[in-house]
Amino acid sequence: MQALTIDLAAALGGLAYGGDYAPEQWPEEVWAQDVRLMREAGVNLVTVGVFAWALLEPVEGRYEFGWLDRVLDLLDGAAIKVDLATATASPPPWLSLAYPNSLPVDEDGRQLWPGSRQAYCPSSPDFRRAAGGLTEALATRYGSHPALVLWHVSNEYGAHVPHCYCDTSAVAFRRWLAAQYGSIEALNQAWATAFWSQCYADWAQVLPPRASPAQRNPAQLLDFYRFSNDEHLACFRAERDVLRRLTPQVPVTTNFMIAHAKWVDYRSWAGEVDVVSNDHYSLSAAAQDIAIDAALAGDISRGVSGGRPWLLMEHAPSAVNWQPRNFARPPGQLRRNSLGHVARGADSLLFFQWRASRAGAEKFHSALLPHAGTETKLWHEAVGLGQDVRQIAAIAGSRVQADVAILWDWPAWWALELDGHPSVDVTYLDQIRSWYRSLWRRNITVDAVHPEADLTAYRLVLVPSLYLISDVGAQNLADYAEQGGHLAVGHFSGIVDEHDAVRLGGYPGAFRDLLGVHTEEFFPLPQGGSVRLSNGWTATVWTELLHADDAEVMATYVDGPLPATPVVTRRARGGGAAWYVATRLDQGSLDKLLLAVADDAGVTPVGVAPPGVELVRRRHAPAGPAYLFVLNHTDQPADVAAIGPELLTGTPASGTLTVAGGGVAVVCEE
Ligand code: GLA
Ligand code: GLA
Repeated sequence: MQALTIDLAAALGGLAYGGDYAPEQWPEEVWAQDVRLMREAGVNLVTVGVFAWALLEPVEGRYEFGWLDRVLDLLDGAAIKVDLATATASPPPWLSLAYPNSLPVDEDGRQLWPGSRQAYCPSSPDFRRAAGGLTEALATRYGSHPALVLWHVSNEYGAHVPHCYCDTSAVAFRRWLAAQYGSIEALNQAWATAFWSQCYADWAQVLPPRASPAQRNPAQLLDFYRFSNDEHLACFRAERDVLRRLTPQVPVTTNFMIAHAKWVDYRSWAGEVDVVSNDHYSLSAAAQDIAIDAALAGDISRGVSGGRPWLLMEHAPSAVNWQPRNFARPPGQLRRNSLGHVARGADSLLFFQWRASRAGAEKFHSALLPHAGTETKLWHEAVGLGQDVRQIAAIAGSRVQADVAILWDWPAWWALELDGHPSVDVTYLDQIRSWYRSLWRRNITVDAVHPEADLTAYRLVLVPSLYLISDVGAQNLADYAEQGGHLAVGHFSGIVDEHDAVRLGGYPGAFRDLLGVHTEEFFPLPQGGSVRLSNGWTATVWTELLHADDAEVMATYVDGPLPATPVVTRRARGGGAAWYVATRLDQGSLDKLLLAVADDAGVTPVGVAPPGVELVRRRHAPAGPAYLFVLNHTDQPADVAAIGPELLTGTPASGTLTVAGGGVAVVCEE
């Protein structure tokens, strides 16, 4: 995985800059202007052909490559490298007409029709055969093209059709289950089918979890989600294997949607790609929320990538067009947002997309080159960012170091948000974001890692609402605590195993011993309700009838359903401490808790800065130069301590560096 990543950086001479390029949407006269403007902006990598299947293969088995030959040659002539798509993300009309069973079916049995994109069932043998054929034809034709540096397989697997419930999927699901469980008895056991008369006598009786009169079997749902993930992954692997066979020298990726996509378990994809690449779109209008969301997505991408640099495959130059209201970026935000991704380990700044489409569903999505042309804020910012990228080229390949881990797991997210739980108000992302926000505000760098990852190097491990955990994960955390680790566990964690079966004997079953507590019963709060704590903190959503068996009580509830009951506890062990917080603290209270927990663990921030100023450091290991990123998300100038050349301006910082409101600095600390 690593060797190919480094080759890519070498081919580009630093960080990659560019984005999705769809020349097929434009008359050929426009292409020369595209390439000239790409050079003006410093673009060195473009992703070509993502949605071009219908043009590349207008009739089954008949390929038309002439136009793509000319595009790639034009780009090569301008020394612009290409991330070439396998173009299989959106089947052409002929495919669904010839193979109607390749169309996806939703949980209500409704078939989805062509007319947008991604209209295929990932288990369809016809789809896979056709996708493999196109991939083979592309690899054969372009495998040794001098512009080619990266393969881009499909696009955002599972973005629109994460799960297909058709009959083909049913057969594939049974096959997957048989491989998983070996016998129908083992399946019945894992799914607890004695409940509600669901015992299966034969594999043929098993179905995808289609819409049903009452709550569906949660273990069946979880396995179906795992199966669906694996089917998308199998589609990826099939294309990748064709590429590896024909072009072993060219790295392969597919763009993830980390922190957006609930239904793809990217941990299982990490070892399958040569380089992790991610798409990130801001879902908020507030500057700090945008920054925090991007930082979190970057930290998860880095976690998925095993700490290695990753590629930002897409982000938006300004507004998207798929939210109810699509906010354009105010001046300066693009630069801050983009360089913020680099601060978290991205070795590229790629956008959706190069030139704004004139027609089609995404015509109001921003692009580096907007409808209004080059006399625009957007274009000037695009050119400026291209210069920035060149100024900081030396950063490519360096890594981010963190003392704190936050546990992150897609199946735990799926399981937490299943039906039939004590409160619909307990959800995953908002808890992750809230805990993450507390550390972001203190400039404490966090790695987002899987519960079964090696935790020994971390001073502190955070476990917000990790409802599902495997035995291996539970043991991993127990070992970490036993060896003197510091950790903090949030409410509704450690409740079930991987089949959504409750860990008995009192909640939180997986963590009861390491925390020294047990809970008899949950007492969720009414919608909008809140509860006060004895230390002055406030909380919402959730309370528990908790006993501190072998832990110090740090706070109790003052009111709510359980006055005087413990809510925050701390168990000291082997120099470490295990904290439990049995409620959903409001942000200010959580900031205080995690400040205390981090201090307890001896965690130090990257540096000291005014509120709203983000500090992150990348370093060339082991003793190479370090790069301090200062991202000022406020509108006031900010002073931070820094020594070394500031790379974006070329001016030295010799003690105190002042970063303008909304500005960015990158200091090389040799
Ligand atoms: C109904 C059903 C029971 C059970 C309860 C739960 O009464 O008959 O089987 O599901 O609801 O409240
Ligand atoms: C995703 C897709 C792109 C485009 C953008 C728009 O990331 O991969 O093709 O639709 O969203 O934001």
